[in-house]
Amino acid sequence: MHSHAYVALENEPVKEMEKSTNWNALWQELVEMKTRSHEKSRAGTEQEKDAWCKKALEFKEGVKRRWSKPDSSRDFILSQISPDSTVLDIGAGVGAWSALLARKAKNVTAVEPSPSMINVMRNSLAEEGIANVAIVQGSWPDVQVEPHDYSLCSHSMYGYPDLTGFVRRMVETTRKTCFLLLRAPTLDGVRSEAARHIWGQPLDSPNFTIAFNILLQMGIYANVLMENTGLWKPRKSASLQEALKDLKRYLGLDNAAEHEPYLKELLKHRLKLQGGCYFWPPEVRSALVYWQAK
Ligand SMILES: C[S@@+](CC[C@H](N)C(=O)[O-])C[C@H]1O[C@@H](n2cnc3c(N)ncnc32)[C@H](O)[C@@H]1O
Repeated sequence: MHSHAYVALENEPVKEMEKSTNWNALWQELVEMKTRSHEKSRAGTEQEKDAWCKKALEFKEGVKRRWSKPDSSRDFILSQISPDSTVLDIGAGVGAWSALLARKAKNVTAVEPSPSMINVMRNSLAEEGIANVAIVQGSWPDVQVEPHDYSLCSHSMYGYPDLTGFVRRMVETTRKTCFLLLRAPTLDGVRSEAARHIWGQPLDSPNFTIAFNILLQMGIYANVLMENTGLWKPRKSASLQEALKDLKRYLGLDNAAEHEPYLKELLKHRLKLQGGCYFWPPEVRSALVYWQAK
């Protein structure tokens, strides 16, 4: 993931310059690495068919906890949606965004592939008495939906290897504004430090930096609003062994014993033991990226 090019300037010695990054290839490589790692850990379990089958309710609890505090992305998106408009929620999960936006818009279409997420979403919408959300089971960008005024994809693009195709279809299906919410990790987090050491570059996952560069290459000069509530709550691990397993899985290194000594040292050095738990330094915030589709 790292290479050099030699560039000759007139009357000057040949200089070694960084080659520009192939952002589409980097996104694809990171998605495929993570998919392989997930497939291996889910093989032969219920999660093979539906990754969320054991976690949909837990995910809903997490959203409820996070959404109990104010959030600039939510406020901004709500302020942009005009009444009587239509909204497409791509990868709706348990339907938190769909429910929120349905209170302002005429109607919302929630696209979601996971049956267990759909189940929880359907119950939540019924409990809240929300009747203007249509759930469509399917995966973006293959699912067939009509054009909508607004489209939103909140943290649901990380498993799709062709981000250009994903975004192109969003633009085709949107009459007004496209919104993306993406992880924007700091460059000095533990995962980023490990990625830099092992791969020679600090981008440890498909994320905002890569996506924004792909948008630029598509000719999309998007606006960005960084979440103003700071970094997400730090991860915690019960032991250094558990942290190591977690980090290896995250970087798709489950079988790479050669990196263990380095990763163990890194975790020992960077994690803080507090009240019997190992706390990772906080390293992620959310970036809201939005632009006019038409
Ligand atoms: C991390 S959750 C985010 C859910 C919700 N958007 C939110 O912000 O709370 C990711 C969701 O995207 C869905 N997903 C994954 N790949 C997708 C795809 N290609 N098209 C649509 N949804 C997808 C997953 O099933 C999951 O429900």
